[in-house]
Amino acid sequence: MVGMGLAQAQTAATDTTLVEKGRLLAVAADCAACHTTPKGGAPFAGGYRIESPLGAIVASNITPSKSAGIGDYTLDEFSRSLRQGVRKDGAHLYPAMPYTAYTQLSDDDTAALYAYFMHGVAPVDKPAPQTELPFPFNLRISMAVWNALFLKDERFVPDASKTAEWNRGAYLAGALAHCSTCHTPRNALMAEQGDKAFLSGGSLGAWYAPNITGDATSGIGAWSEAELVQYLRTGRVAGKAQAAGPMAEAIEHSLQHLPDADLKAIAVYLKQVPGVASAEAKPRFAYGEASTTEIDQRGLKDGVDPGWRVFSGSCAHCHQEGGAGTQNGAYPSLFHNTATGADRPDNLVATILHGVDRTVDGKAHFMPAFGDAASFTDRLSDQEIADVSNYVLRQYGNPAVKVSVGDVQTLRAGGKPPLIAQLRPLIVPGIVVLAVLLVLIAALRSRARRRTQWS
Ligand code: HEC
Ligand code: HEC
Ligand code: HEC
Repeated sequence: MVGMGLAQAQTAATDTTLVEKGRLLAVAADCAACHTTPKGGAPFAGGYRIESPLGAIVASNITPSKSAGIGDYTLDEFSRSLRQGVRKDGAHLYPAMPYTAYTQLSDDDTAALYAYFMHGVAPVDKPAPQTELPFPFNLRISMAVWNALFLKDERFVPDASKTAEWNRGAYLAGALAHCSTCHTPRNALMAEQGDKAFLSGGSLGAWYAPNITGDATSGIGAWSEAELVQYLRTGRVAGKAQAAGPMAEAIEHSLQHLPDADLKAIAVYLKQVPGVASAEAKPRFAYGEASTTEIDQRGLKDGVDPGWRVFSGSCAHCHQEGGAGTQNGAYPSLFHNTATGADRPDNLVATILHGVDRTVDGKAHFMPAFGDAASFTDRLSDQEIADVSNYVLRQYGNPAVKVSVGDVQTLRAGGKPPLIAQLRPLIVPGIVVLAVLLVLIAALRSRARRRTQWS
């Protein structure tokens, strides 16, 4: 600091604090989840393709590069893209960028994030590829209509009737960690459904983000605060659940790095989210028990369950023959497990297809992906996956849930597309028909007019 005036030194110190504050906020908001390409991409250089039912949306380069990133964004322009979903050039962003959640960010936190992205991130001058959605979704202006319908352009307002801890949790979950973008179901136009369905469960391709409202049966009401903190911090709670897929990513890149006080605040808030009940009879972690089928069926030649054969060959050496997993919990029990006790098979099938890959505290938790295993002998067919799923559900999980080969095919292909994507093939002909009709009507009317003029 030699040669620096006191005031300058003071500003420099505040700036470093502000940049560090912004860095922590960027972790809590998980900006890297989309803006850093997994497995070795330069931080925030973009290029990651987010598969949406309408096509892939490419995350932008948000490094401070002036040519390829957001280096020439002012604070106002940065705030507008974060909280209103509008780029510097005025074009609308697709809501794959979770501005519907970040819109709640405070001015102070937005400024801290800006300081971090301008001064704490290395510029990368390589532009990210452009997003190319098919017509009519390539018309970004359509998002202005979508925003008018669905974007609640409002900052977070603390609820004075609640504790400071609850408010901290609500802000973290809502404005930063954007839990609702995954856990709230979406309507036909892919917007989060209203307050009554808030956090009551949403589909994400092959995965399903379950109901995490306070309901004791359908939600997480029967989890203790400590269990929720442990899940968010490590991704596993013995006798309840493990995190795979998108939840594993949220934990790996973001949640495990939050201070315990913040995780506790999220848990306190979550347990008070108004419960949304569905038809389940008991909590999804409460199904199933160990079985002796593996031992009973061993050596039998006739009449053995095809699902058991797959289980015996591909699952039992890790999850053990009785399905109880290992003592140390490295291989979890398949009963008392939300993936097998849920009222839908998505997470069970998705886990078999895509495996588990979650690194916490530098330690990897790994289950192979049987759907696209590199070696042919490890790969399971859709039929085998349906068979082993039904076996696991019957032996260890919710026996009312059944899996067909068609279900596996649908989940392998990324789940059921939402209505708007299903309608796309009709939208283009629809517009053409409409245009032809309009031209016809116009022609008829002008002929009619001419006739009246002539007569
Ligand atoms: C779930 C994925 C996701 C997360 C998390 C996310 N973004 Fe984005 N972001 C995107 C995508 C996708 C785009 C490009 C959207 C488009 O082209 O319409 C984008 C675009 C942007 C843009 C516009 C840049 C430009 O000129 O194109 C900014 C700025 C931005 N993000 C900042 C952030 C910040 C800061 C965070 C964390 C607070 C963040 N994003 C978190 C997906 C994400
Ligand atoms: C990117 C999408 C995504 C985000 C963001 C996300 N989740 Fe999840 N979450 C999931 C998915 C998918 C699962 C199911 C994972 C599994 O079973 O392997 C899940 C599972 C859970 C579970 C376990 C429920 C059960 O019954 O097994 C809890 C609790 C949870 N999430 C809480 C949260 C909270 C709190 C936040 C925000 C701080 C959050 N999630 C953010 C996708 C997400
Ligand atoms: C090489 C060991 C291994 C094999 C083989 C294996 N698993 Fe797993 N499995 C794991 C690990 C490790 C986890 C995750 C543990 C954690 O998250 O801490 C897991 C998790 C699971 C989960 C919970 C996923 C979730 O999202 O909650 C299910 C269900 C499961 N396995 C089923 C199966 C089935 C069915 C098979 C056979 C087709 C199988 N596993 C084969 C190691 C294995």
